[in-house]
Amino acid sequence: MAGIISKKIIEDIRFRNDIIDVVGSYLSLSKKGATFKALCPFHKEKTPSFVVNAQRQIFHCFGCGVGGDVFKFVMMHEGVDFGNAASILAQRSGIRLEFDEGDGNKDDKSALYSMMEQLAGFYHRVLTESAAGKAGKDYLEKRNLLGDAAASFRLGFAPDMWDSTLKWAAKHKFSTAQLDAAGMVVKSAKSDSGYYDRFRNRLMFPIRDLQGRIIGFSGRVLKSDEKSAKYVNSPETPLFSKSHVLYGLYEARKHLVESREAIICEGQIDVIRCHEAGFTSAVAAQGTAFSEDHSRLARRYADSVVICFDSDTAGQTAAIRTAQVFMSGGLVVRIASLPEGEDPDSFISKQGPESFRSILDKGVSVVEFQINVLSKGHDPKTESGLMRISKALLQTIGQAPSAVQRSKLIQQASGLLNIPPGAMESDLRQALRFSARRNASKEEPEKPNEEEPDVRPNAGPGQRKRPREEMELAEHIVACPQLGELVARYVPSGLFADGDCLAVIESAVQAMHENSDLMSILAERDDQDRTLTSFAAQVQMAPSKIVGRDASREAAVKELILYIRRRELKKDKDRLLREMQDPKGKIDDSVRIRLAELGHDMKLMKSWESAKDLLDLDA
Ligand code: CTP
Ligand code: MN
Repeated sequence: MAGIISKKIIEDIRFRNDIIDVVGSYLSLSKKGATFKALCPFHKEKTPSFVVNAQRQIFHCFGCGVGGDVFKFVMMHEGVDFGNAASILAQRSGIRLEFDEGDGNKDDKSALYSMMEQLAGFYHRVLTESAAGKAGKDYLEKRNLLGDAAASFRLGFAPDMWDSTLKWAAKHKFSTAQLDAAGMVVKSAKSDSGYYDRFRNRLMFPIRDLQGRIIGFSGRVLKSDEKSAKYVNSPETPLFSKSHVLYGLYEARKHLVESREAIICEGQIDVIRCHEAGFTSAVAAQGTAFSEDHSRLARRYADSVVICFDSDTAGQTAAIRTAQVFMSGGLVVRIASLPEGEDPDSFISKQGPESFRSILDKGVSVVEFQINVLSKGHDPKTESGLMRISKALLQTIGQAPSAVQRSKLIQQASGLLNIPPGAMESDLRQALRFSARRNASKEEPEKPNEEEPDVRPNAGPGQRKRPREEMELAEHIVACPQLGELVARYVPSGLFADGDCLAVIESAVQAMHENSDLMSILAERDDQDRTLTSFAAQVQMAPSKIVGRDASREAAVKELILYIRRRELKKDKDRLLREMQDPKGKIDDSVRIRLAELGHDMKLMKSWESAKDLLDLDA
């Protein structure tokens, strides 16, 4: 059961961690009046649109739309959940964490980390010092993997027994339950006989998180046969989540600060070989395909990647798919090609680091790579071949979030295929429009019935679309909570299409009554991703549309209330009209009367004066 950090402690942590100090320890901030500016660490940009407001203790990026309080910033920058962000900030300011329900969880987890660290030491000693590890040592010797990098990656060996890990734990006062929680044992199918070791007779590759803690293992068999999987990986545990891990990133991090270019490999042996040969920015996914999460993780440390996979067909297909994933994450992507049958490990072993360097340098853009691959199956000189190729290319190019990047790729593709760029551009535009439509219909199965389907144009990627009128209302109420009384009285909460807008408005009013801080109140009702607090930061940072005094703000709020009420009436009216068109439905006079009433009410709702009585009637 997860312990919950007490509210008081959360507020202590917030109080002691000034957002300017915290953000300033990660980014270089420059002061512009009451706010501080920086280049946004969460998307690529050349001019700063990331602002931190000292007074409100929030950050917001006008470029990509992210924002929130000090906890949210640490969550995003460190890639951790709320609990971990709180604990990082607590440590920073010398606060001891206290939990509301049981102190157990945090201790449980830190015991698991410690157990994993000690286990890695155990497997490492088995490999290097014991007879039980001889087979593993011989194998690594043959593959020339016993050098410094292998030592720093802490390679090990799990003995060929069903219970060596279990026995080790018993001796070191760790319980079977702890081994189970960390995924190191498997429950026996025969219900009575308990647990056995997950990793047996395997080379052990410890997997580290970004803080260098060991969170899982990957185990390789010594002899490939059909019977057992070549690799066994830790399952998902409270410590290990495969989608959040890039093998080698902890080691690569320091070097990425300078080069900002990561080498993406397929396997952990490739990563180790690369590091050993001086290519210290190599990383790989761990037991899974590359996903959006991986590209987000890489994006924090790199601006570009070179993908260097096996050169067989499967490897080429995987390289293109992986390139698309990283491209859509906003990274510049190149693909390097190894000779047939080689992977980075085998190539470096045979040809040495210099040759590998030149392979990386010869890496080509995704477009060029894909044309080379596709031209083997489809002849670009024929019309049908050309169409196939360009269609596949457009799918890749369409992944690039920036129009500049897309147009550069199109130029390249059209040059290589010898077709006018304008033709590809118009095909791409069509493809993008089509996929935008498809995405929109996926997200909103029913199109909301508004007078104008108006949504914020500046909604960044990953941001939910919210009705413009509700967002504006939230902006006004946050700026002037007294006006929240009007909303509470005249807009029943069921009329809000966006629950977050409603929550922000309610919290602003509550903060005013309790004389407390909006962000603290929101923090209590927020979800794991801190959607509310980051939305509230966006709302607070929105440029004010009201220049005058509160009187004009009040008028604006009334306008918006009327708008939302009309929107609702329109929805009713449309529903009735639809019912009337249904040939099986019965239309009686009551429907017609109701329609007339709705039309009348909508007219009244055009101005506050005429709407007042009607509003008070249902308030
Ligand atoms: N992998 C896995 N499970 C498997 C096979 C592979 O999780 N059954 C993952 C491993 O992380 C592995 C990577 O996919 O490192 C690449 O697999 P492969 O190319 O087969 O292994 P290599 O790392 O090249 O290992 P080796 O050189 O020893 O064959
Ligand atoms: Mn290999």
